[in-house]
Amino acid sequence: MTIIKSENLIEKFISNQEYETEKKGACFAKTLTCGTTLALCGEFGVGKTVFTRGIARGFGVELPITSPSFTIIQEYECAGKTLYHLDLYRIETEDSALAFGIDEFINNKNAITVIEWGDRIPNLLDSDCIVINFESASPDQRVIRFYKKQVSK
Ligand SMILES: Nc1ncnc2c1ncn2[C@@H]1O[C@H](COP(=O)(O)OP(=O)(O)O)[C@@H](O)[C@H]1O
Ligand SMILES: [Mg+2]
Repeated sequence: MTIIKSENLIEKFISNQEYETEKKGACFAKTLTCGTTLALCGEFGVGKTVFTRGIARGFGVELPITSPSFTIIQEYECAGKTLYHLDLYRIETEDSALAFGIDEFINNKNAITVIEWGDRIPNLLDSDCIVINFESASPDQRVIRFYKKQVSK
């Protein structure tokens, strides 16, 4: 099952350096309203965490941002708003994501939720979630595609 369908493409962005990916995340954060979930997809090292750092910066968070690979979730508060940053690399099935309590974070109406490896839980993501796929085109270039979510089997 894939949550990426070419007809749902909203935008394609080419980043030529790490800072451009972070800046894109920061600009994108300004367009988000509470209750939005972002599912970030792509292999290791494609820039999911760099982009999330940008989201956090756009949100007003100045703390260091790293993948919460061991803790699964990191929560940030800024100006009365909540940002959840999840990393599902260690969560291999939707059942284990549910056992972890992921539904508390997905589409939480009072927060923005960013999920690295979000394509691991296609059936748990709400249909209004935004899917962002990262691909490495060269050591410093990333192709970042934004999609509306659509589950297809
Ligand atoms: N254009 C780019 N955008 C984002 N990261 C880049 C870019 N070019 C090189 N990089 C490097 O790729 C790596 C991305 O790491 P990270 O964001 O942790 O990946 P992921 O979370 O997808 O595993 C970093 O080491 C970063 O310096
Ligand atoms: Mg990461």
